Amino acid sequence: SDPSTAGKCPFMHGGHTSAGKSSRHWWPNALDFDILHQHDVKTNPMDPSFNYREAVKTLDFDALKKDLHALMTDSQEWWPADWGHYGGLMIRMAWHSAGSYRVADGRGGAGTGNQRFSPLNSWPDNVNLDKARRLLWPIKKKYGNKLSWADLIVLAGTIAYESMGLKTYGFAFGREDIWHPENDTYWGDEKEWLAPSDGRYGDVNEPGTMENPLAAVQMGLIYVNPEGVNGNPDPLKTAAQIRETFARMAMNDEETVALTAGGHTVGKCHGNGRAENLGPDPEAAELEDQGMGWINKKGRGIGRDTVTSGIEGAWTTNPTKWDNGYFEMLYGHEWELKKSPAGAWQWEPKEIAEEDKPVDVEDPSIRYNPIMTDADMAMREDPVYRAIGEKFRKDQAYFSETFARAWFKLIHRDLGPKCRYIGPDVPDEDLLWQDPVPAGPTDYDVAAVKGKIAASGLSIAEMVATAWDSARTYRRSDTRGGANGARIRLAPQKDWPGNEPERLAKVLGVLEPIAKETGASVADVIVLAGNVGVEQAAQAAGYKVEVPFSPGRGDATDEMTDAEAFDVLEPVHDGYRNWIKGEYSVSPEEMLLDRSQLMDLTAHQMAVMIGGMRVMGTNHGGSKHGVFTNREGALTTDFFVNLTDMRYNWVPTGKNSYEVQDRRTGEVKWTATRVDLVFGSNSILRAYAELYAQDDNERRFVDVFVETWAKVMNADRFDLVP
Ligand code: HEM
Repeated sequence: SDPSTAGKCPFMHGGHTSAGKSSRHWWPNALDFDILHQHDVKTNPMDPSFNYREAVKTLDFDALKKDLHALMTDSQEWWPADWGHYGGLMIRMAWHSAGSYRVADGRGGAGTGNQRFSPLNSWPDNVNLDKARRLLWPIKKKYGNKLSWADLIVLAGTIAYESMGLKTYGFAFGREDIWHPENDTYWGDEKEWLAPSDGRYGDVNEPGTMENPLAAVQMGLIYVNPEGVNGNPDPLKTAAQIRETFARMAMNDEETVALTAGGHTVGKCHGNGRAENLGPDPEAAELEDQGMGWINKKGRGIGRDTVTSGIEGAWTTNPTKWDNGYFEMLYGHEWELKKSPAGAWQWEPKEIAEEDKPVDVEDPSIRYNPIMTDADMAMREDPVYRAIGEKFRKDQAYFSETFARAWFKLIHRDLGPKCRYIGPDVPDEDLLWQDPVPAGPTDYDVAAVKGKIAASGLSIAEMVATAWDSARTYRRSDTRGGANGARIRLAPQKDWPGNEPERLAKVLGVLEPIAKETGASVADVIVLAGNVGVEQAAQAAGYKVEVPFSPGRGDATDEMTDAEAFDVLEPVHDGYRNWIKGEYSVSPEEMLLDRSQLMDLTAHQMAVMIGGMRVMGTNHGGSKHGVFTNREGALTTDFFVNLTDMRYNWVPTGKNSYEVQDRRTGEVKWTATRVDLVFGSNSILRAYAELYAQDDNERRFVDVFVETWAKVMNADRFDLVP
């Protein structure tokens, strides 16, 4: 090569697409608006008219299932199936796809096909799941647009169970793929994979002190460390961590034992080699590895020589059969600590009959000791887990049924209400964890209801705040919450401080009779009241608007509501109503961003909603922070006009409070919180604030507000969209 150019950039200018430092590098604490603008049309390669949830309905479900059954036992030379059956691998892939779900913010889970992307595709706990997905590629290729990766991944685990003899509880399609990594999910603050647990616990021996919303004990794990807390075997300590992490995945003790035992009834652990010989993870691997990672280039690295977790061995005598071998093995032997060939801690039986040992994955004439991870030993040593496990051991039918239901819940937890389920195997039964809502009436006179609401004497603020509170629990992450069902009437929501219980009771006392008189659902009437309030506020600002409305929301009952499961939906902050329950390590504006992301709002929509809610006077408790207007109750752009007015000075008066003073006289004009002033201080939000402070955008502001308001009210109307 030419020595004068060697090592130099071939481009005069640019050429680097990624080596430059981003703004986030220079200002790491800046708000990240990208979380509001993910999965945009520009990254989605499908035709705009394409709708996955319509496309999947035309899938040949029977042919697909048949092909998956065939795939399970069609061993490929490049990644041979253990004992000729891919079931274990496919189930672990599906479980790790669904098992990243956590109840606190509903993020993670099987709903998006995120396992294809970083960081999940390269998590240390997901070693060799790249092979599982690659094995599925011919199926994905064949069924194409009609079958998302997200659906395929969890279906493969389900068919694997069927193929090994379990009668599954059902399956629903409908998970639409994303096309790039999610960046809204907080997986922890550690800078290293598998950093010790301690950083995310107040006290590592008190599992309840794990940082929210996390649900895994270490960075890069789905749940607990299989070798014990921080890698030190101690089944009782591991049991405590399992109890906490599975609760954060919405699973109780019985479901936890069923899932862990049912998971490890099949398949095996892989650690017959040295982990140091594995190449880098898929994101860091060489170009020629073509998206696969952890490749062992120093040895064989497949079949019996595979290294995944580093633990080595199967749990049961017949690891390709759904049976009760797990309990027989776990409770029928005494266990002692050993090290795997890869150096990982594992438990092996002190004594075992030769014929009870599982055979080698390649040569059935060789037998090895079965193994238990520390997590399996927790199912033996923890008295509560033990009692449940003994019951399962005696009653295989009960175990199978409990497992099948828990598996169904695991992989459908974040798919949303039953009306979102697609396909021939959707079970009829309503399940409490689906937050069922009955269909509501649509044949009532909407105008008459609005007339009664308008004549009821409720204020704009009362109507708008109540409708907002009813809808704001919606989170796109697991499609829970929202105005449908009117669960704001029920425990626990009616008592949440964020809902201002007294004001709420008063407003409901007016709206519930209107629902009764008119035949509308309370859920619809709450939303209609909000719409009436918005229309009145627009009118007061000089604009006549009609908020779009679709009747048909239903009213849930206490019997349909798992009150405890709703606790996690309680808002502890709501920037839109300028409220925060306490003091948190995260700033109020971060929390506003988080809520906006869960509500599926863009930064622009967030700005418009804040500006509009403030001037309508909908603050929690009637506080005046951020109400930068002399015309409260009119849907004006005054919030932005006054925020950007250089006549004022902004003076801190507390951690989360400011005065807006006249620069000349020092007179206090208004007060504000961080969430108010961030719209003037942050350069991106300021751009939106200026847009609506302009003399020419008042009308557009009202239009965008109304459109966004309707979007919020309808966010959970899955009955209206395909
Ligand atoms: C494999 C740990 C729960 C299903 C494994 C492996 C480990 C492990 C270390 C070995 C991976 C390898 O080296 O190939 C745990 C822990 C759990 C847990 C700590 C939490 C308590 C579950 C659950 C399921 C499941 C809930 C499914 C319902 C499987 C399956 C395999 C497996 C099927 C075999 C994979 C194969 O054959 O390639 N698990 N697991 N596990 N796990 Fe779990």
